[in-house]
Amino acid sequence: MVTGGAGYIGAHACKALRKAGFVPVTYDNLVTGWQDAVKFGPFEKGDLLDRTRLDEVFAKYEPVAVMHFAALSQVGESMSQPGRYWRNNVGGSLNLIEAAVDAACMNFVFSSTCATYGDQDNVVLDENSDQYPINAYGASKRAIEDILRDFEAAHGLRHVIYRYFNVAGADPEGEVGEFHQPETHLIPLMLDAIDGKRDALTIFGTDYDTPDGTCIRDYVHVCDLVDAHVLGLKWLQDGKGSRVFNLGTGCGFSVREVIDQSRAVTNRAVPINEGARRAGDATKLVSGSSRAKAELGWKPDRSNLNTMIADAWRWHQTGHFDK
Ligand code: UFG
Repeated sequence: MVTGGAGYIGAHACKALRKAGFVPVTYDNLVTGWQDAVKFGPFEKGDLLDRTRLDEVFAKYEPVAVMHFAALSQVGESMSQPGRYWRNNVGGSLNLIEAAVDAACMNFVFSSTCATYGDQDNVVLDENSDQYPINAYGASKRAIEDILRDFEAAHGLRHVIYRYFNVAGADPEGEVGEFHQPETHLIPLMLDAIDGKRDALTIFGTDYDTPDGTCIRDYVHVCDLVDAHVLGLKWLQDGKGSRVFNLGTGCGFSVREVIDQSRAVTNRAVPINEGARRAGDATKLVSGSSRAKAELGWKPDRSNLNTMIADAWRWHQTGHFDK
């Protein structure tokens, strides 16, 4: 059962699951997801806050595992509308976790985030780093991690928690890709500016304590990211214990470096404005990424900046979804 299977990462996960021989059942309320993106298994429309609907879907499919992607996920929005984040992300996840336990579905793969670490300057963040989120989005995800630990202790719910760094790129076969409305993420906004769909990209802050003054992030290809999820599902099915893994490459790129690389990949000018900092942004988020490689055998082969932007650019020129 894939919550958020109609969203960017969830849809790529459904494709990877299908390829690996699973039947991904998408559970999605279509608030931010797209019905068109559900191509690889059944679709069940539903909200995480609707416990009756969750119970129906668990009873209908008797899933072997839950992959839980559904969430509100915009750092900036979480600062202005914290109530929505706590209600949807934490309240919705609690419903889902209780429904899974009641249905005896005891394998749970959860999308967490490096935003749970907060702003720890000049530190490479590994899975044992302290978690001090600086925005409501990160705080909501950390709370769900805690719920999972409590449900394991009380009910034996085994889980793999993935803390994502910045996910980018698209399916190289062009079946699914990134499509948010409104768009808030750096690379798709930049591609919009490059091909004239918006006037310019605004750089949020040029006075950070980094070599070029802009924020540094660790970008990971969405296909590599979802491959890790399939490995995590097999990890649980093999009876291995609950575990937390960072999913990033260990390489950080500044906003200006991403802009330069986009100019090189598309061979076009990138119109930019320099703007103020965005509330909730950490200066630098770079992953200590060795655990997933060592323990899961994860190989993030597509996660170089050039390939991620090239795949995103190809999708950007051809792809979109409808409800
Ligand atoms: N940025 C700009 N201009 C824009 C958009 C973004 O300069 O128009 C900058 C941001 O300030 C940040 C970087 O580009 O420094 C990346 O921003 P994104 O909005 O693409 O991604 P975030 O880092 O804010 O957030 C993403 C996901 C979250 C996840 C987080 C972890 O949206 O779900 O990565 O860092 F938790």
